[in-house]
Amino acid sequence: MKLWGGRFSGKRDPQFEKFSESFSLDQRFVLYDLRVNLAYVKALTAARVLKPREASQISAGLAALRRRVQKDASWAQGQTAEDVHTWVEGELEHISGEVARKLRTGRSRNDLVATEMRLYVKDATLHLERALADLLAALVSHARRHSTVILPGYTHLQPAQPILFAHYLLAYFEMFCRDGSRLRDCRVRADELPMGAGALAGTTFPVNRERLAKELGFARVARNSLDVTSDRDPVAELLFACSLTMVHLSRWAEDLIIYSSPGFAYVELADAYSTGSSLMPQKKNPDSLELIRGRSGTLLGNLMSMLAVMKGLPLSYDRDLQEDKAVMFTGVDTTLGALEIAARVAATLRIRPERMKAMTQLGFLTATDLADELVGRGVPFADAHEQVGRLVRYCATAGKTFQELSAGEAAQIIPGWDPDLHDVATSMERSVARRNLTGGTAPKQVTRQIERAEQLVAELQKKLK
Ligand code: ARG
Repeated sequence: MKLWGGRFSGKRDPQFEKFSESFSLDQRFVLYDLRVNLAYVKALTAARVLKPREASQISAGLAALRRRVQKDASWAQGQTAEDVHTWVEGELEHISGEVARKLRTGRSRNDLVATEMRLYVKDATLHLERALADLLAALVSHARRHSTVILPGYTHLQPAQPILFAHYLLAYFEMFCRDGSRLRDCRVRADELPMGAGALAGTTFPVNRERLAKELGFARVARNSLDVTSDRDPVAELLFACSLTMVHLSRWAEDLIIYSSPGFAYVELADAYSTGSSLMPQKKNPDSLELIRGRSGTLLGNLMSMLAVMKGLPLSYDRDLQEDKAVMFTGVDTTLGALEIAARVAATLRIRPERMKAMTQLGFLTATDLADELVGRGVPFADAHEQVGRLVRYCATAGKTFQELSAGEAAQIIPGWDPDLHDVATSMERSVARRNLTGGTAPKQVTRQIERAEQLVAELQKKLK
């Protein structure tokens, strides 16, 4: 079955048919295709292209086809068609007879495929948002349960200042929230109906596009037929949203890979998400996190592919655009899979506060607090910085922590050293509590953020149910 036989006398090279088919990929659109067809039958009936009796015949055929596809998971096996749209028309003719040949009136696969792509993008953003919400829930639940745990904060992966573990978790919470809002934005922009655009210039039949948009759940009708039949912005945007989500996941995975290494041992991955070595019996490897990190790289490739396919295309539709399917499906599948595993890894992660605490003793994390305290006593910050720097150098050379420093030693380097300065140097609790401003790591601030995050997760879960 071909939708365009008449023009040709010669046959296609079977190898070219195989080269050009998209059924193997766009068969995933089959339910969208049936849905759009069903709505289009109504539009054609209202436009008096189809008689009511013909419309019911075609609709019954489409419904039968939907039942078959839904019942039999292997419906596509052994089928050959140029694409899913061709397949549906062919099958429909078997079921409904001659009348099915009227269905294609006034439309093209160009507006059809653009419509189905947009329906898919809208659904995919919702699925991704749901998966994101589960991950957010896992993060905020750890933040709540470990709200007083302190660990070293790093810059350059060198010990910097103490932070609350909950504050650390909520940093990722922020990133993943933004990813969710990007997906929503993407959905809002994708929410335009292409049908009625025809192949490129609009259809001559009086199709009521506004009604068709409503029927298919689109918020608006696309204003330009050339644009909407050749536009793949929704795919590119979706892939960007997925890519950045994966980049965030990848950074988080990288953190956990480091934090689960025995030198740190801040966290321990559940056995369920770890693997062993065929050679070294002791190994417990964080493969789940490594695959998340690795696949984020693949995703960037998908985004680049889509952009590169689009960049040189003359208006309007060109067959190059068929390449959107592979990158879109694998992009969404990969991101969904990674989000789901990430949520499970997070939910089952064992936290080791005692290890985090032990590590706060190393690295002179309170050096900034000491300098700030000296500023409070009237020392210019540059001088305070210098003095504390010398104190750190002394300790590092002597192999001592601030805790192990005697008052006499400290007083030789910092004039006026007293028990309060010793307390500032050794109390991690005091250090975090000082950062008591919006966005800071003080318990008061972080508790506020945890409450807000919990509320947000509850709202999201209700909305996305
Ligand atoms: N399989 C095609 C695609 O996905 C459908 C549109 C084909 N249109 C055409 N004019 N050849 O892009």
